[in-house]
Amino acid sequence: MDPVEEIKSKIDLVDFISEYLELKQTGMNFRASCPFHSEKTPSFFVSPERQIWHCFGCQKTGDIFSFIQEIEGIDFPEALRILAQRAGVKLEKFERQAVSQKTKILDICYWSAEFYHKVLLESSLAEVARKYLKERGLNKKIIADFKIGFAPDKWDTLFKFLIKRGFKEADIEAAGLISKSSKGGFYDRFRNRIIFPIADSHDQIVGFTSRILPSAEDEKTAKYINTPETLVYNKGRILYGLNKAKLVAKKENQIILTEGNMDVIACHQFGFENTVCTSGTALTQEQIKLLQRFTQNIILAFDVDLAGQTATGRSIDMLLQQGLEVKILKLEQGKDPDEFIRNDLKGWKKSLENPQPIMEYYFSLALQDKDLKKIGDKKEISRLILPIINKLGDPVEKDLWLKKLSADLNVSEISLREALKGIKQPNYNYGKTVSENKIEKISREQRVGEIFAALLLIYPDQRESFLKNVVLDMFPETKIQEAIKIIKDCHQENKKIDSQEVKEKIKEKDLDNYFRYLYLLGENDFKDFSPLELEKELDCLFLYLKEKYLNRRLRILTQELKEEEKKEDQEAIKKISLKIIKISREIATCK
Ligand code: GTP
Ligand code: MN
Repeated sequence: MDPVEEIKSKIDLVDFISEYLELKQTGMNFRASCPFHSEKTPSFFVSPERQIWHCFGCQKTGDIFSFIQEIEGIDFPEALRILAQRAGVKLEKFERQAVSQKTKILDICYWSAEFYHKVLLESSLAEVARKYLKERGLNKKIIADFKIGFAPDKWDTLFKFLIKRGFKEADIEAAGLISKSSKGGFYDRFRNRIIFPIADSHDQIVGFTSRILPSAEDEKTAKYINTPETLVYNKGRILYGLNKAKLVAKKENQIILTEGNMDVIACHQFGFENTVCTSGTALTQEQIKLLQRFTQNIILAFDVDLAGQTATGRSIDMLLQQGLEVKILKLEQGKDPDEFIRNDLKGWKKSLENPQPIMEYYFSLALQDKDLKKIGDKKEISRLILPIINKLGDPVEKDLWLKKLSADLNVSEISLREALKGIKQPNYNYGKTVSENKIEKISREQRVGEIFAALLLIYPDQRESFLKNVVLDMFPETKIQEAIKIIKDCHQENKKIDSQEVKEKIKEKDLDNYFRYLYLLGENDFKDFSPLELEKELDCLFLYLKEKYLNRRLRILTQELKEEEKKEDQEAIKKISLKIIKISREIATCK
């Protein structure tokens, strides 16, 4: 059978789509709000019988392939790969190979994970690593389930293995697994580290994070090192463990959110499989959307303070703002979930059964050690709590908590409301309104364009070499084009982006939020990059954008050619044909 047909026969479209949307049965079909355009009444339908979907609002229509392509912003080969894996359909080699660099990178990640895992299980070089994992209580099953591995303390074991399997240097480098040395040779990125493959929600390995061995731990070396951003790995779009957690999360209608990779592993090992982590960074809107595909109920299992200045604090604000239900799992003092669960399983279970609603938790933190008879203490409590109430997205909820605060402090609601007015309205949207966020789907191209702009924004040293080759039309969105233009002008006129003059220009164009968002985007993902790595990253992004742009132009020219052929205008036909040849050659150099 044709693999496409075989996949369609093996995955039920209704099951598949309900991982993304809330489907309700109406008659023979299922119905939901359309994810591809904004609407008040649901007009997106799925037919279980015909295995197709259609939206009567935006007129989009299709099968399982077009659905995943649209919603994930991916191309057909990638969709084929993901769905084949899910359906357990084996693809012929040519079907896998008929593809982009993306697919090559995915293959490289897959084989690297296999390699590192085998090294951990079998190599004499991994003795220390095996001992360490055992000491930390990881059993064989969990090591296999998460395909944990080990990178030996050598310069090129992985590199040699991948070359032997027939992969090319350039692709291995694009997968982020090797770096070029100053002498021109290549060396493995991960050495003498425990390796954790990172999978996306479709269970494809897209990157890696790695932990130093305790014997090598010192002040200077990072405890964890990750794959850099690649065509397939985008830190802000991944939640570690989600591939394994998603079904249980949906069934139990709840996700446990932790901070660390080892926390996820411990939770899964002890049967709490609906656990994921952010890998120590602030949650992104995209990660929140991922969570929302499976549940609205989040149990936070990490240290949370009242000030909320930390990555954690911002994550909570964003979750609340998006209307998710957030509860806190109380950890024992100074322990992370990994330690808690391994030392005191009963205590963990008890905490998990009685998680505290986030506002209640904040109230108890603020009231802790305070004397409600003292005016100073009352003031202090309201100083701590009012900003938090202010951040709530739902006005009814705001009202309820104000009432509670008024009762607890024995202060009139009116005066609390007055005090609330003096607090600045928070801005979480980083350039996008909430309603836009709900329907927004950033295409990969837009994302790449934004990262490119973000990097040029935060790393002025990289501007010279990249800006001269940039054409504004390379960027798929006016906003990115405008941002790039501002950065370019600043560079040419030798001005600082944060000078008053430029700031005003940004404001004039209504781009301040957008610039804020770009700063965050860059800082979130690239703050520990060396200049060399940055350059490579920018090269890779640039080529991607250029190729897309040239393909767009090619399509337009082909259309024009058709028209001229109808008119039989030989001169024009020749001119356009030459242009087409030139662009095709340029496209070939992007690969
Ligand atoms: P263990 O110390 O092995 O128990 O790991 P942990 O997960 O408890 O680490 P920790 O609480 O220190 O950090 C939480 C998460 O933040 C980690 O799982 C990593 O994903 C991330 N992280 C920690 N240290 C670093 C670092 O040095 N660099 C980067 N990029 N990420 C880090
Ligand atoms: Mn830990």
